[in-house]
Amino acid sequence: MSYENILTSLDNGIFTITINRPDKLNALSKGVFNDLDVAVKEVYANKEITGAIITGSGDKAFVAGADISEFGGLTKEEGKRLASRGQDVFNAIEHSPKPFIAAVNGFSLGGGCELAMACHMRVASESARFGQPEVNLGLIPGYGGTQRLIQLIGKGKALELLMTADMIKADEALRLGLANHVVPAEELLAKSTEILLKIASKAPLAIAKVIECGNAFFTDGVNGLQFEIDKFGECCETEDFVEGGSAFVEKRKAAFKGR
Ligand code: COA
Repeated sequence: MSYENILTSLDNGIFTITINRPDKLNALSKGVFNDLDVAVKEVYANKEITGAIITGSGDKAFVAGADISEFGGLTKEEGKRLASRGQDVFNAIEHSPKPFIAAVNGFSLGGGCELAMACHMRVASESARFGQPEVNLGLIPGYGGTQRLIQLIGKGKALELLMTADMIKADEALRLGLANHVVPAEELLAKSTEILLKIASKAPLAIAKVIECGNAFFTDGVNGLQFEIDKFGECCETEDFVEGGSAFVEKRKAAFKGR
């Protein structure tokens, strides 16, 4: 697959997507969204991929937001289409059956913070900065930020960040639960890879169902506990469930097949 605005690599089952517009601090242009859309579909479809990392090119920014240069003169309907397109791509990340980690290597602002929050986990470098500065532009987050920030850190602190546009440092993001880990910049990809490889050693269908159950908690009209019962039952029908139990009894490492 060839891309114009992102770089991709596949190593040891880990697919790394690098947003590659360092001179624009990796701002999310329409072109980036088009590439990201295809890359996310590749994660779903390619059986060799067990997990994905999203990061930014250069040492300054993960993603400094939606591309503000594309905002000029947007009508109400165009604005809604822009937000809807962004949400579709980010929802696909959130609902991926394979884990996504945002390796946040610098500014993670606006759409960048929203992209990181759509991933299942965030590993931040010590230089990472998070914020939702849209109100500075007369806007609000449109790619899920008002919802996911509240889900991750609670309503009071989220509304403070959304209304003040304050930028927070990595250690504060860790304290609030926005970042899972903070590591030196040179260890960022290694730490993200380590987590994904650990997950890849588990039963893939069970991992996909954990993600589904986590998302069910935030889905209107879904009884999460009942959903969990259903998913638990589905696990019992898998070959991997048989293999996991046998391996335990036989004191050996399970060889899961994703069936
Ligand atoms: N959209 C488009 N271009 C962006 C951008 C964005 N969200 N963020 C940064 N850039 C561009 C700048 O315009 C600049 O381009 P230029 O060199 O052609 O002028 C380049 O990236 C470098 O940014 P610059 O502002 O010079 O870097 P800085 O170190 O002085 O400041 C930030 C860094 C992140 C504080 C600042 O770029 C910023 O506030 N960006 C916008 C953040 C934002 O509001 N995001 C939400 C958008 S909805």
